[in-house]
Amino acid sequence: MKTLLTEEQIREGVVQLAGEIESFYREKPLTIIGILTGSVVLLADLIRLVEMPMRLGLVQAHSYRGTSTKPGLLRVNGDFLPEVKDRDVLLVDDIFDTGNTMMEVMAQVDELSPRSLRTAVLLIKEGRQQFAYRPNYTAFTIPDQFVVGYGLDYDDMYRNLPYIAVLEEDELS
Ligand code: IMP
Ligand code: MG
Repeated sequence: MKTLLTEEQIREGVVQLAGEIESFYREKPLTIIGILTGSVVLLADLIRLVEMPMRLGLVQAHSYRGTSTKPGLLRVNGDFLPEVKDRDVLLVDDIFDTGNTMMEVMAQVDELSPRSLRTAVLLIKEGRQQFAYRPNYTAFTIPDQFVVGYGLDYDDMYRNLPYIAVLEEDELS
């Protein structure tokens, strides 16, 4: 596996992300909602870097199935969503690839009448988007390659790597 982003580079990116979020919302209490499962590592780091009043919630989305690196059927489970009505909500995910996951979760959260709804991701994959929408906060733009680590998985493995690496064709089972 080839390292694409080191621990140190990721740290710098997340610090910058947190700074941008903080300066936009100021002292307004924010509801940060992480999209499971890929966002958990970013989420843990990000919430400890934003120095502002906040609530934390989770929503689950599934699109990659098993050993395929192609997006499969998307399922969203909002059972664990916190109260969002009239609140400022920030959705957090690991990566914005086709954009399907974020767009679907946004649509579902929007139904619950938040006061505002913005999005943050660690990565955006170049040239893959199927929508005109782009996340409000992005730390890195990466080439169109399949990556793992820092929350991102292949067949639910590698999420615990502290860095981000490219999984080569011959490493895909
Ligand atoms: P999208 O719906 O196509 O934008 O894909 C978003 C979801 O697909 C992310 O939350 C990830 O779980 C997964 N995903 C997309 N690209 C990668 C990748 O390169 N490695 C691991 N997971 C990925
Ligand atoms: Mg994911």
